[in-house]
Amino acid sequence: MPQQPSQPPMDGDTIREWERKYVLYPWQAQKGLNPLVVDHAKGNYFYDTSGKQYLDFTSQFVFSNLGHADERVVAAIAQQAAKLPTAASPFATEPKARLAKLLAEVTPGDVNKSYFSTSGAEANEGALKLARMATGKEKIIARYRSYHGSTMGAMALSNDYRNWACEPSVPSVIHCLDPYCYRCPFGATYPACDLQCAKHVEDIVRFEGGAKRVAGFIAETIVGANGIIVPPDGYWQMIREICDRYEMLMMVDEVMTGFGRTGKWFGIEHWNVVPDVITMAKGVSSGYVPLGVTSMREWVAERFESQQWVHGHTYSGHAVAMAAGIATIEAYKADGLIQRSAEMGRYLMEVALQLQEKHPCIGDVRGKGLFVGLELVKNRRTREPIHDGLVDGVRPPTAKAKVLTQALQEGVYCLPGSVSVIMLAPPLTITKDEIDFAMGVFDRALALADAEVEQ
Ligand SMILES: Cc1ncc(COP(=O)(O)O)c(C=O)c1O
Repeated sequence: MPQQPSQPPMDGDTIREWERKYVLYPWQAQKGLNPLVVDHAKGNYFYDTSGKQYLDFTSQFVFSNLGHADERVVAAIAQQAAKLPTAASPFATEPKARLAKLLAEVTPGDVNKSYFSTSGAEANEGALKLARMATGKEKIIARYRSYHGSTMGAMALSNDYRNWACEPSVPSVIHCLDPYCYRCPFGATYPACDLQCAKHVEDIVRFEGGAKRVAGFIAETIVGANGIIVPPDGYWQMIREICDRYEMLMMVDEVMTGFGRTGKWFGIEHWNVVPDVITMAKGVSSGYVPLGVTSMREWVAERFESQQWVHGHTYSGHAVAMAAGIATIEAYKADGLIQRSAEMGRYLMEVALQLQEKHPCIGDVRGKGLFVGLELVKNRRTREPIHDGLVDGVRPPTAKAKVLTQALQEGVYCLPGSVSVIMLAPPLTITKDEIDFAMGVFDRALALADAEVEQ
């Protein structure tokens, strides 16, 4: 392989200093940032410039489902880069043809046609425009406590503190309440609740003009960044019925939950429902190369046989990203990783429930596959969250932050976030011993949160 032009090596302090001077970090007030300098990664671990090893217990931002630096994907990227790094989107290429076909095979039902972009936000922008163009209607129903990306359209679909900064955003997006059984917004208990959370969606659709005006519904199949919220059984089935009744597109955001994360190829498969649109990113290429996908059922794609698909990106179908996607999906299949996620997820859940017995700060444990959340509370009886998220864009020294900082010091990384839920989402290649190690670290670190529990 040709050598890189030689560069004098940089030490960790210089890297940090240059970055602090020249890089604007996402989602942060920049003052006082002191980023860890990552040097390399392999398998389930990454390493800083001093050589210290970290077990990656949230697959970075829940994208490295395959673990780091898998040689098959690295080789596929190198080979494709040497042969044809990219070609403009109107051209057909072998990797694009192959990846689109592979996706049609792993997605449910007749979700057979894909539009390629480069991120989860773009995948959702595509879905938003797709719903409007395919139905000729304007309104989209989305949910509070959701995250779909940081571009204007994706933020309009999302609803947490992060979209306040870009309001007013895209009009005609209406939000509904979420199926959050631990804190049911309807004050009900499943199954006696009779799925008020889904019925309320129908009320909103009707008030917003029903079949005449509402183009679609979009939500994460299991809420990710806002706290691993698993809907009750029956919810997605009822949403499917509502979408059919009012001729709306049912769109699911599988950016985090796709590609084995929940123990199935896609989260929606837990409820045996075929959506009209699936958006993907992250696990589709295990993050090795940026890639987003908006996939749709045949009847939706059919609309664009004669009607123009008025959407596009310079890098739609980027050949290197396509090659990464193919190699990643083939690796999931060859190594049985989707099944493995279900099995290891059961083990992770077992250990998480044992921690809940020991630690009064853990109010709730929930999840599917290797996608498990520990919800931290001040008081188990009142379920008051242990902290209230961001204050003026500055992360306060919350109990959760203290737990994660100690875990990092002990060599286990979990991504921070604003809600009182610790997200456990290791690569699908995680072993039982590694789960034991990480949960042992959390067992010690959670004492810091226990100290803030009201007696
Ligand atoms: C469910 C979901 N959708 C969309 C996105 C946005 O993806 P990206 O950051 O690649 O734009 C994210 C990112 O975390 C996500 O979790």
